[in-house]
Amino acid sequence: MTARKIIIDTDPGQDDAFAILLALASPAELDVLGITAVAGNVPLEFTQRNTRIICELAGKPDVKVYAGCDRPLTRKLVTAEHVHGKTGLDGPVMIEPTMPLQTQHAVDFIIETLRSEPAKSVTLCPLGPLTNIAMAFEKAPDIVARVQEIVLMGGGYFEQGNITPAAEFNIYVDPQAADIVFKSGVPLVVMPLDVTHRALTTPERVNAFRDIGTKVGETCAAWADFFERFDIEKYGSAGAPLHDPCVIAYLLNPALFKGRLINVMIETQSELTMGATVADWWGVSGRQANALFMRDIDAAGFFDLLTQRLARL
Ligand code: RIB
Ligand code: CA
Repeated sequence: MTARKIIIDTDPGQDDAFAILLALASPAELDVLGITAVAGNVPLEFTQRNTRIICELAGKPDVKVYAGCDRPLTRKLVTAEHVHGKTGLDGPVMIEPTMPLQTQHAVDFIIETLRSEPAKSVTLCPLGPLTNIAMAFEKAPDIVARVQEIVLMGGGYFEQGNITPAAEFNIYVDPQAADIVFKSGVPLVVMPLDVTHRALTTPERVNAFRDIGTKVGETCAAWADFFERFDIEKYGSAGAPLHDPCVIAYLLNPALFKGRLINVMIETQSELTMGATVADWWGVSGRQANALFMRDIDAAGFFDLLTQRLARL
């Protein structure tokens, strides 16, 4: 089986870090053509730095990392230091990366890669605001039809929002970008809060990270310990939702997830509900389905896969 070609677009973020580590620990299944950083959880200067820190932690300093957009298409950047800390990777002390940042802009890398790779052979995996993806589609409309699939973390229907009552962070930060992506016609697989809130870092699961007994395991446990304090306080939940690694786990084992092929549109007009994912879960709109919108996860299977793969690094 040839490895699936992917580009990860990310705003690390501790949960993004788990996703990137999971992908880099799975070279037989995933060929990471490059990782593009975008402003989101923290400003771009941190997300591009954090992406390189994570690649070096994985022992993969040759991964090509690109800096992308430092703000949304039209709106002011909203960040989430209250969740992820000032650096975006708060928890353990991280050393500055030494691997290079590519000089090419992330948007141009996405365009160039989609034009040079065979049509429908590259999957895009956005883990943050969709600014880079939308900018690439706007700058080079010819690449849209060449994308194999977009598997993204974002949105919420049953869970509604986490940054506002109506909207999930990734979509809320750049709703105009999300609107472009959700209307693009590219096959979408969406991991909304509805499913990621069922992937919680319980104490047993964090201990399993720590019991790996490696720098990666120790760092992941420390990230989880830091990252979960916000969600436990807010939701009273048994741990933090590991949002972004759901995207990579889907690529490795789609059977871990269940959802519905439905129509999903983005609220871009009302400030009250800006960035809401209007998911037609009950099929009442008559609008064409555009997204496989996930609802259920085999959480035990997900954490077993994640922990086993982290132990490879
Ligand atoms: O709402 C959760 C999403 O926003 C995750 O991707 C997290 O990393 C932040 O980007
Ligand atoms: Ca993210």
